[in-house]
Amino acid sequence: MNHISSLAFVLLLTVFPTQILCQTPLMKQACGYTIYKVLCLETLLSDPGSKNATTLKEIAVISSSHTENKANEIYTQFTNLKNSTAEGDLKQALSRCSDYYLSVGDRLFSANFSLKYSNYKRVKEEMTKATVDREMCDQAFEGKPFKSPLSEATTKLSQMQNNAESIINQLKP
Ligand SMILES: *[C@@H]1O[C@H](CO)[C@@H](O)[C@H](O)[C@H]1NC(C)=O
Ligand SMILES: *[C@@H]1O[C@H](CO)[C@@H](O)[C@H](O)[C@H]1NC(C)=O
Ligand SMILES: *[C@@H]1O[C@H](CO)[C@@H](O)[C@H](O)[C@H]1NC(C)=O
Repeated sequence: MNHISSLAFVLLLTVFPTQILCQTPLMKQACGYTIYKVLCLETLLSDPGSKNATTLKEIAVISSSHTENKANEIYTQFTNLKNSTAEGDLKQALSRCSDYYLSVGDRLFSANFSLKYSNYKRVKEEMTKATVDREMCDQAFEGKPFKSPLSEATTKLSQMQNNAESIINQLKP
């Protein structure tokens, strides 16, 4: 953890002691492998299945599953924004991102599905393709006079995916 995230962690611990203390040893272990530890715990604690998980694999699936859901949520948001934006450069960028995020959702669905069957090579391939598509969306806004209206959400997704990959990497034989 860098200083900023350590501080955030301490602050979170102060504000939400109950939630943090609800973490199980397995959640603690899993999030210990990740860069974005606070987000990792937040994600796992939001899923009632995490508490009952008995293997790191189950925790990895929950993390991967929430990553997929977040991508689908962003796809819907880009699509809605595109639909309600007048013709022009912004609409074009939103439209491209809507297309890219449809693909991100598909990739992360495949990754989540492959994870279930422990096909780690395929998981890695699909996650890499999802990252490329996410970056293509970011590029649609580069050098433009407007910023992505969903940059906070897309950054959060990239961190969630990074966390899921960190946990999945520990499963490899
Ligand atoms: C967790 O396990 C308890 C006890 O076995 C069970 O009652 C509960 O429904 C389970 N929760 C989930 C979300 O699976
Ligand atoms: C991810 O896969 C698990 C099964 O391994 C499944 O229960 C879950 O619904 C999937 N998540 C999504 C968002 O498709
Ligand atoms: C966006 O517009 C397209 C075409 O006009 C339509 O097919 C689609 O259902 C709309 N999506 C949403 C989320 O409103």
